[in-house]
Amino acid sequence: MKQIKIVQVGIGGYGATYTGYYKDALARGDDSFKLEGIVDPYAAKGADYAWAVEQGLPIYNTLEEFYAEHAADLATIATPIQLHREQCVTAMRHGSNVLVEKPLCATIQDAEILQRTCNETGKFLAVGFQWSFSKPILDLKRDILAGRFGKPVGMRGFVSWQRYLSYYNHTWKGRYRDGQGRWILDSVITNATAHYLHNLYFVAGAGLDEAAMPTRVLAESYKVKPDMLTPDVFVLRGELPGDVPFWFASSYSLAGDTVTTFEFRYEHAVVRFNIDENDDTVRAQLDDGSEIVYGNPQSSDERSRKIRTCIAAADDPSVQLTCTIKTILPHLNTCNGMFDLIPPQPVDARYLVEQHDTNANDTGIFAKTLRDGLLMAYGEGKLPSELGYSWSKPAVVFNPGTITDYQGTYAV
Ligand SMILES: NC(=O)c1ccc[n+]([C@@H]2O[C@H](COP(=O)([O-])OP(=O)(O)OC[C@H]3O[C@@H](n4cnc5c(N)ncnc54)[C@H](O)[C@@H]3O)[C@@H](O)[C@H]2O)c1
Repeated sequence: MKQIKIVQVGIGGYGATYTGYYKDALARGDDSFKLEGIVDPYAAKGADYAWAVEQGLPIYNTLEEFYAEHAADLATIATPIQLHREQCVTAMRHGSNVLVEKPLCATIQDAEILQRTCNETGKFLAVGFQWSFSKPILDLKRDILAGRFGKPVGMRGFVSWQRYLSYYNHTWKGRYRDGQGRWILDSVITNATAHYLHNLYFVAGAGLDEAAMPTRVLAESYKVKPDMLTPDVFVLRGELPGDVPFWFASSYSLAGDTVTTFEFRYEHAVVRFNIDENDDTVRAQLDDGSEIVYGNPQSSDERSRKIRTCIAAADDPSVQLTCTIKTILPHLNTCNGMFDLIPPQPVDARYLVEQHDTNANDTGIFAKTLRDGLLMAYGEGKLPSELGYSWSKPAVVFNPGTITDYQGTYAV
């Protein structure tokens, strides 16, 4: 096996997951890869900066500076969203395959440019939705594709997290674009909880590396945090190919306990995550009374499987990459559609409450009652407007597969 030369782009924030993996793997004597260098203009703030210096790794401000002195088989990129397109293009044009963090990019136009660059350079571009590389989700998908559960009957997911001021009081979080006009479109559904909507589409996909493009989406979005620009409550339902109904909602601005859950129903089985047992384990209950325990897709070993898979694929093109540009398009098209079509809808001040995170000495605005309302909507598979909630507005309806670009209709 060839030793894969890697350049790590971005070592702070989530980039520390990559340097942490590389550090541990090298300490274990893993010689399948060599870290060739680091690119990060603020590298000194990274958790593993001292380790990188101690290892004598060259550190650069830009990828161009790195490639002037080195080559890499694989670039692993964990930088802010608005940098992904140009850094992926630079890496592929300099002969590197790419593993870039989710979301791939903000707009459908950027995804097209990236696909063209893949085609022209012959390099692969994998997108770091770690669940789509994890054994639990891939085992589940193999069983579904083999017809073990029968046809899908309905899929739904609900994610309610809490983010305080320190999270979005940041250079790019909760923003439409950066100071140079590059699209970011960061929000709870495009970024923070993107995994879960993407996973719903991914599990419904017709092949191991495919996700299902919905044929119709009815969507509502709302804004709770007054000082954040993008919406922070999203609720959608619609149909997947084969007229399979789905429902999804996510927010990081609802008062009450956090929820991270999904339930996928098939003719002969129901697959659940954090519904009756809150242990991050994917399980299928079959009609015959048996149970399949697929495991935890977010265990530390599963979180780093995407890195191991991409190192293996950089050496051996027959290694299948299960999350690439085509795989993330259903999520990207749905998000671009919601951002372009739904007018800004602030939640009325009478629903808002300030909460304090005493552990982190942090504070934030959250909405009362919406979480419980959404849990009822989840149960019924309906949208807030269909249940007549006082804070709701009519849904927009669109076909994500027909959306060709993001136009910035409501961007500020
Ligand atoms: N897969 C996951 O579960 C997961 C979790 C969190 C974040 N992420 C993703 O990781 C990416 C980074 O998010 P983050 O919150 O760590 O961002 P961040 O703002 O903390 O930045 C990450 C790193 O990028 C560096 N950086 C900034 N400008 C750069 C440049 N021009 N060149 C090279 N490096 C540069 C920063 O210095 C920092 O070290 C995003 O795409 C985010 O969605 C993924």
